Parts: sequence; structure tokens; C-alpha cells
Amino acid sequence: MFAQKLLLPALAVITSVAAQSATICSQPTATINSQADASAYADCSTISGSVVIGSAASGDILLNGPSSIGGDLTMINATQVTSFSSSTIGQIKGTFHLEDLTLLSSLSFTLLTAVKSIEFISLPNLGALTFSSFVSSAQSVTISNTFLGTLNGINLNTVATLQIDNNPHLVSFSTQVGNITSAAVFNANGAGLKIEFPNLIWASNLTFRDVASVDIPSLAVVNGSLGFYETSLESIYAPNLTSVGSFATGQGSLAFVANTALTNISMNALKSVGGADQIANNTVLAAISFPALVDVGGAIDFSGNFTT
Ligand SMILES: *[C@@H]1O[C@H](CO)[C@@H](O)[C@H](O)[C@H]1NC(C)=O
Ligand SMILES: *[C@@H]1O[C@H](CO)[C@@H](O)[C@H](O)[C@H]1NC(C)=O
Ligand SMILES: *[C@@H]1O[C@H](CO)[C@@H](O)[C@H](O)[C@H]1NC(C)=O
Ligand SMILES: *[C@@H]1O[C@H](CO)[C@@H](O)[C@H](O)[C@H]1NC(C)=O
Ligand SMILES: *[C@@H]1O[C@H](CO)[C@@H](O)[C@H](O)[C@H]1NC(C)=O
Ligand SMILES: *[C@@H]1O[C@H](CO)[C@@H](O)[C@H](O)[C@H]1NC(C)=O
Ligand SMILES: *[C@@H]1O[C@H](CO)[C@@H](O)[C@H](O)[C@H]1NC(C)=O
Repeated sequence: MFAQKLLLPALAVITSVAAQSATICSQPTATINSQADASAYADCSTISGSVVIGSAASGDILLNGPSSIGGDLTMINATQVTSFSSSTIGQIKGTFHLEDLTLLSSLSFTLLTAVKSIEFISLPNLGALTFSSFVSSAQSVTISNTFLGTLNGINLNTVATLQIDNNPHLVSFSTQVGNITSAAVFNANGAGLKIEFPNLIWASNLTFRDVASVDIPSLAVVNGSLGFYETSLESIYAPNLTSVGSFATGQGSLAFVANTALTNISMNALKSVGGADQIANNTVLAAISFPALVDVGGAIDFSGNFTT
């Protein structure tokens, strides 16, 4: 009897701690304004709602404990946060949104592999991503206005939309993705940006602006449009590309515009372009040859000083 009486209050305390952490783990939005707030989630195996790191947070924020976040993970305008890390979060089921973080210089999510979407915008001090396990699954990735020199740490198996723009230090991007179901756009990144899509077989739309090299050895089909604008590419080589757009609907164009170093377009398997085929303002391009091209749905609009 005596022993039981002693045990009861201890059990009651344990139950109430468990109940409290279950509640904070499952609230719709967890707001974190300090490291002490973040530490309160250490016992959550998952956080079922969204997590917001508030603009009052500062210094180093470590969010360890949960292995997944059911909603979004958002940090906007926390201008005093210098590092943000987790060595437990493997999955974010919503958007991983970081924006307007002036001092953030370290982002370390060593187990992260799956995110619904990534939106990293205006991160002027962030030079690298420490995503040691590699993010391989994301429907949409937007990286805009950052200091990032590489996107090592993001190596996608599948993606619908890739928007990579205004990252002036970005000099390389390589991803294993086999198809891009919506669109990839590269614009205004580092002048020497080298892009590699070693396994890409089909993509809905591909737009390359201001890039120095594009490696697309396996690309066979572009369902929508393919365009190269204002690049420093000397040659464009797509040996397996057979069609761009749809000849049946007349949609999807192929464009090479204002690529001032371009001397060689080599698309020897290209048979069909659904919309327009445009070549303009490529100042040193002297020869054009599309030996397999039989169908062009739209206008053929070639201008330049061609000798052949
Ligand atoms: C961050 O704060 C600045 C200044 O208050 C504001 O102009 C900006 O829109 C905010 N950023 C976001 C993404 O809300
Ligand atoms: C796209 O690529 C992924 C991963 O390689 C593959 O599982 C999927 O079947 C592909 N989808 C289509 C429609 O080709
Ligand atoms: C592909 O690009 C075309 C032309 O810019 C646009 O109309 C279309 O909506 C894009 N398709 C996708 C899936 O983004
Ligand atoms: C190009 O296409 C051929 C025939 O479909 C295929 O055997 C080959 O592996 C492709 N090349 C690359 C680099 O994917
Ligand atoms: C694009 O074309 C590929 C190859 O023909 C096809 O497998 C894929 O389903 C098409 N994707 C879309 C979005 O139409
Ligand atoms: C263009 O590039 C292809 C592929 O690299 C190469 O085989 C071909 O000889 C080049 N053509 C010219 C005219 O330089
Ligand atoms: C080519 O350059 C001329 C002169 O700068 C410009 O007017 C024209 O719009 C350019 N053409 C294309 C297709 O961008």
C-alpha cells in the first residue's frame, strides 16, 4: 500500500509531461522565437503541424528531436539568425521557406532527404548548404538571390519545377533528375555557371539564360519549349534530342537568341519542333545544320550571318 502511494504522484508527473509534449508536437503551428523555444520540441518524434521561426529569433537555432515536420518550415525576416540546423529532421512535408535572412551563413540539415518544396530567397550570406544526406525529392525548388556557390546537397530524383535565378556566385549545378515535369529556368546566376543534367530524358520546358555550359547528353524530348538566351555557350550539343514541343498542337518552340560566343549547334537527331524554330543575334554563329529535322509547326525564323 505504502509503496503504491509513493508511486502514484511520480506516475502522474510522467503522464503530464508526456501529455504536454504530445500537445506541443501536434499543434497546428509551432512558433519558435529563441533557442529555448526550439529546445521545447526535443522530445517530439514528429511535429505534425507547421513550424515558424519568428523574426525575433537570433544567433544559432538548433531544432533537434523531430524526424519530420508535417507542414511547412518557415523562417522569414529573422535577420539576426546566423545559423539554422537540425541533425534529426529527414522530411518536411510542406514548404521549406527561408527568406530575407540577412545574417544566415550556415544551414545544416544533415539528415534531410525529402521536402515538398524548397523556397530559398534573399539569403545574402549563405554560401553553402550542408545537406549531407542530399535532398533527393522535391516537387518544386526555387533558389533566388542567394550567395550560394553550389547547390551541392540538392540532387533530385524527381522534380516538377526548378527556378534558379539571381545567385551571382553560383558556378555549378548538377542533378541526377530523369524528368522535369513542369519547367526548369536558369537566369542571372554566376557568369561561369556550368549545368549538368547527366540523366535527364525529358522535360516540359527548359530555359537557360546567362549560363556557360549545359550538359544534356540523354535529353530526348522537350514536351514544351527549349530556349538558350544570352548565354556564353560556345556549343550546344544534344545528341539524343528528337523532338521539341508538339507538332500536333503547334506548341513548344526552340530558340537560340543572343548567344554571342555560340559557334556550333549540334542536334543531329532532332526531327520535330512543334512551334517556332528561332535563331537570332548569335553573332559568331556561321553555320546551321539540323540534318534530321522534318517537321516545324511554327515559323522558321533564322537571322544572322550564315555561310551555310
Ligand atoms: C521583411 O521585412 C521587410 C521590412 O520590414 C519587408 O519589407 C519585407 O517584405 C519582409 N519580407 C517578407 C518576405 O515578408
Ligand atoms: C520520372 O522520373 C522518375 C525518377 O527517375 C521515374 O520514377 C518516373 O517514372 C519518371 N516519370 C515519367 C513520367 O517518365
Ligand atoms: C512552358 O512554357 C510555355 C511558354 O513559355 C508556357 O506557356 C507553358 O505554360 C509552360 N509549361 C509549363 C508546364 O510550365
Ligand atoms: C541515346 O539514345 C540511345 C537510343 O535510345 C540510348 O541507347 C543511349 O543510351 C542514349 N544516350 C544517352 C547518353 O543517354
Ligand atoms: C513528355 O514526353 C515524354 C516522352 O515522350 C513522355 O513520357 C511524358 O509523359 C511527356 N510529359 C508530359 C508532361 O507531357
Ligand atoms: C560541333 O560539335 C559537335 C559535337 O561536339 C562536333 O562533333 C562537331 O564537329 C562540331 N562542328 C563544328 C563545325 O565544329
Ligand atoms: C536582336 O538584336 C536587335 C538589336 O539589338 C534587337 O532589336 C532584336 O530585338 C534582337 N532580336 C531578338 C530575337 O531578340
